Amino acid sequence: MKVLVIGGAGYIGSHVVKALLADHADVTVYDDLSSGHKINLFPAAHFVEGNILDYGQLEKTMRQGFEAVVHLAAKKAVGESMINPELYAENNLLGAVHILNAMAQNNVKALVFSSSAAVYGMPEYLPVDEKHPLNPISFYGFTKQETERLMDWYDRLKGIKYTALRYFNAAGYDASGAIKGRDRHPQNLLPIIKEVVDGKRQYLSVFGNDYETRDGTCIRDYVHVSDLADAHVSAIKRLLAGRPSGIFNLGTSQGVSVKEVIDATERIIGKPLPVRFEEHRLGDPAVLVAASDLAESELGWKPRYTLIDDIIRTEL
Ligand code: UFG
Repeated sequence: MKVLVIGGAGYIGSHVVKALLADHADVTVYDDLSSGHKINLFPAAHFVEGNILDYGQLEKTMRQGFEAVVHLAAKKAVGESMINPELYAENNLLGAVHILNAMAQNNVKALVFSSSAAVYGMPEYLPVDEKHPLNPISFYGFTKQETERLMDWYDRLKGIKYTALRYFNAAGYDASGAIKGRDRHPQNLLPIIKEVVDGKRQYLSVFGNDYETRDGTCIRDYVHVSDLADAHVSAIKRLLAGRPSGIFNLGTSQGVSVKEVIDATERIIGKPLPVRFEEHRLGDPAVLVAASDLAESELGWKPRYTLIDDIIRTEL
C-alpha cells in the first residue's frame, strides 16, 4: 500500500503515519512544518517538505504512483478562523482543490480526509449521527463542510473515492512516547491542562460552570488519537477494496465533562489542578457526543481507549 500523507508531521498526521508503518505501508509525508514538527517524522517514511498551496511541488510529488492520499493539512484553530477567514479560505479550501486536482492529474483514486464534528454546529439532537443537519457556526467548520462537498463532486466527475472522518475531540498521544512534537499554541482542553501540569501556565480557565449538564461544565466526546489513526488505515483499505465514498463520525459515544477531565487529571497527578471558572466561550455547545455506529459497521472501528483516565495519562 503506497500512501501519501499530507500533513503527516502534525498531531494527528504523525499518529496516522505510525499506524500505516505498523501496517507495512510505504509512506511518504508531505508537510510544510508550519505546525508539524521534524521530530514527528518517522525515518521509515519518506519526507517531502512542501506546502499544499504550492501546486507545482504538490503535483510533482503526486507523480510517484500513490494508491491513496490522506489529507490532514488543514488549519484547525476555530477562533483564528473567525478572525482570519482569508487564511482558512486559502489554506483549507484552495489547498483541498489543489490536492484533488493533483490527484485527478495523476490518477490517484482514494482520499481520506480529516473532517470534524464542527460541520454540525449546535447539536439539534444527541448523540449526533451523520444524518444530523450540517450547520457550522465557525468558518473552520464551513471549510470542512465545503471540502466534503468538493470531494463529492470529484467522486462523481473524476471517480476519486473519498472517506471523510469527522473527528470529535481528538485527545492524547501515542502511548509508547514515539511522537514528541506538541502543538505550538495549544487551544484545546487537554494540551492546555498539560501546560498547567508542566508549570507553563498558572491555571486552567474553565469556560463556564452553569451549563445544563450534570455538573454545569460542558460535555465532550474525547477520542484517542491512536484510535483515530487506526480508522484512517481501515478507511484506506476499505476504499482500495472498492467500497464507495463515505462519511463517518469518530467518537467514543461517551460524554465526559470538563469537571470530570479535571478530576481525572487530579487523580493521575495526585494533587489539585489550579482552576479558574470564567465566562462561557462563544459558540460552545453544552454537550457534543458522537454516534459512531457507522464507523463500526463500515470500518470495523472500535476505539480501544474508552476511559478518560487512560486518554489523559497518554497526554501528560
Ligand atoms: N475548555 C475550557 N478551557 C480551555 C479550553 C477548553 O474550559 O482552556 C472547554 C471548552 O469550553 C469545551 C471543552 O473544554 O467545553 C473542550 O474544548 P476544546 O477547545 O478542547 O474542544 P472543542 O470541543 O471546542 O473543539 C473540538 C475540536 C474542534 C472542533 C470542535 C467542534 O477541537 O476542532 O470540537 O466540533 F471544531
